[in-house]
Amino acid sequence: MKDQPDASAVYKPSDDFVANAHVDAGAYAKMYAASVADPDAFWAEHGQRIDWIQPFTKVKNTNFEFGKVDIKWFEDGTLNVSANCIDRHMITRANQTAIIWEPDDPKTPALHITYAKLLEETSRMANVLKSVGVKKGDRVVIYLPMIPEAAYAMLACARIGAIHSIVFAGFSPDALANRINDCDAKVVITADYAPRGGKKTPLKDNTDKALLHCSDRVKCLVVKHTGDQIHWIADRDIDLRQQMDWAKPYCPYVEMGAEDPLFILYTSGSTGKPKGVVHTSGGYLVYASMTQQLTFDYHDGDVFWCTADVGWVTGHSYIIYGPLANGATTLMFEGVPTFPDAGRFWEVCAKHKVSQFYTAPTAIRSLMGLGPEWVEKHDLSSLKVLGSVGEPINPEAWNWYNTHVGKGTRPIVDTFWQTETGGHMLTPLPGAIPAKPGSATLPFFGVKPVVLDPATAKVHDEVETEGVLCIADSWPGQMRTLWGDHERFQEAYFAQYKGYYFTGDGCRRDADGYYWITGRVDDVINVSGHRMGTAEVESALVAHEKVAEAAVVGYPHDIKGQGIYAYVTLMKGVEPSDALRKELEAFVRQEIGPIAKPDLIQWAPGLPKTRSGKIMRRILRKIAENDFGSLGDTSTLADPSVVDDLIENRMNRH
Ligand code: WT7
Repeated sequence: MKDQPDASAVYKPSDDFVANAHVDAGAYAKMYAASVADPDAFWAEHGQRIDWIQPFTKVKNTNFEFGKVDIKWFEDGTLNVSANCIDRHMITRANQTAIIWEPDDPKTPALHITYAKLLEETSRMANVLKSVGVKKGDRVVIYLPMIPEAAYAMLACARIGAIHSIVFAGFSPDALANRINDCDAKVVITADYAPRGGKKTPLKDNTDKALLHCSDRVKCLVVKHTGDQIHWIADRDIDLRQQMDWAKPYCPYVEMGAEDPLFILYTSGSTGKPKGVVHTSGGYLVYASMTQQLTFDYHDGDVFWCTADVGWVTGHSYIIYGPLANGATTLMFEGVPTFPDAGRFWEVCAKHKVSQFYTAPTAIRSLMGLGPEWVEKHDLSSLKVLGSVGEPINPEAWNWYNTHVGKGTRPIVDTFWQTETGGHMLTPLPGAIPAKPGSATLPFFGVKPVVLDPATAKVHDEVETEGVLCIADSWPGQMRTLWGDHERFQEAYFAQYKGYYFTGDGCRRDADGYYWITGRVDDVINVSGHRMGTAEVESALVAHEKVAEAAVVGYPHDIKGQGIYAYVTLMKGVEPSDALRKELEAFVRQEIGPIAKPDLIQWAPGLPKTRSGKIMRRILRKIAENDFGSLGDTSTLADPSVVDDLIENRMNRH
């Protein structure tokens, strides 16, 4: 039986929930108004939620003017992020669990890491980093599975003022090498293998391959996690656990400026190579901790589980920095939702009495297809709030999540945000804002969304409207620059709509002022909640000797949200074949990683181009979507007949 979603329905929290919530409807309205009327006063107050070494006297100093974009928050304050996430809780929470680690294999016992233990392990790792010469401002690349050492590594970097850059363990050696080189990292921290779903990714082997393309001064710290055999290079590789055992159990933290970088995280843009998004210390931590507490209505004693990987920003803000700054108990899961069976998420919720559960629509859709019996087997009575992130959640998935996981009584928060925004931008606060399935609802405090006409760049003032989503003013969690390229930062986010931060998303605003994200309007696609630049996949494909040209677009995919659709023109004389299709898939996996593998490859003898040679992607998108009726004007094409051929041979016609 399929649950019938009602997309026009409004879901209100229960009176009991509202009574106990940090923020109710009245408080939201008052606080939001205050946050945009006088951001200095609002954030001066909420900036106090973290501990400062030197208190700030300045609050907001930001400029969105193209050519002069400059973003500073709390600029004369000093702090240490690691001390905020650990040391300041030691008086009241030393023996409270900071991190619950749930391993890939449920037969391996889970770990409960207290704040005291977190301080010791983080200190030991910080001392090892210092011993290999890592200093304040140096870059450290982290390429690890979802193991406690990933948390220690992040917090150890923050402790000594090093800037971490996590590379998701699903990225290939080439992608890893590019990131190590782009930020000129001194050290890479990796593990022997990353077990996931019973399979093992050879991280050390990947790192060995990557380091062939990097400076030979880069040191490699290795966590022997599975204990399987690995290749070892004596002068370069260091056994991290062993060094941590030998290191001192305490490391003092250093005083950092509010605007000193905390981390770099590479993400895909619409053009060129991945962009190194830079987040700094003070504003980011204020914003990550405040959103974690209020969006999920986190209370002391709750167990918070964000199922993301620390390789994505969601893991940075909502597994590590937000929850730990709040003294929360955060769950870190090494595995996948379907191993050893499709009930794993719910088994873990029951086992650790999870209070807030935060996942992506793609996971919900894939579990939905396997039937509700996997959910019903487990006791989910501890759940209070459910969250969704990464892509629009379709009403069917929302309804399934609500009915089977939330039993119709738990608020669902659909959080819209980006790597660039550091934390939630549009989201219901669960005790304050009624949900509508598929809408990210209203802005978080301090966020001023505007809807613009994509053609004229005029702001749509009317409530009910549609257009591109921009943000009119800065908020503390905003990225500050792109690593080493402030010009590209301005070009990418502030050039299109002058005076505004451009999200890259389209949206609709309904009569209640609720926002509905309609998806990216640029050449970025969203595959299973992972962001991918079509240009990146194209350049991987054309790097293959048999490929002359490639054009990549997204198309609707039942589980992944969007799939990767590649049109490939082969070199003269090369014949298409299934073997070649497999070869190209493998090639892209190797160049970027498994997440970039095309779902469909269509052989295209020609691509639709204008007379000036520009590929008309609009047409390619329509064909990939099986939407041939609305191809629009094709008369400007150099050779309109290529379109007929592409339609004729559209993959997986249904
Ligand atoms: C893009 C950002 C930081 C969140 C994880 C992804 C899409 C994100 C939603 C949502 C509709 C969403 C947007 C955005 N997106 N959350 N709740 N509803 N779309 O971060 O990799 O930086 O991707 O994800 O298109 O621009 P990211």
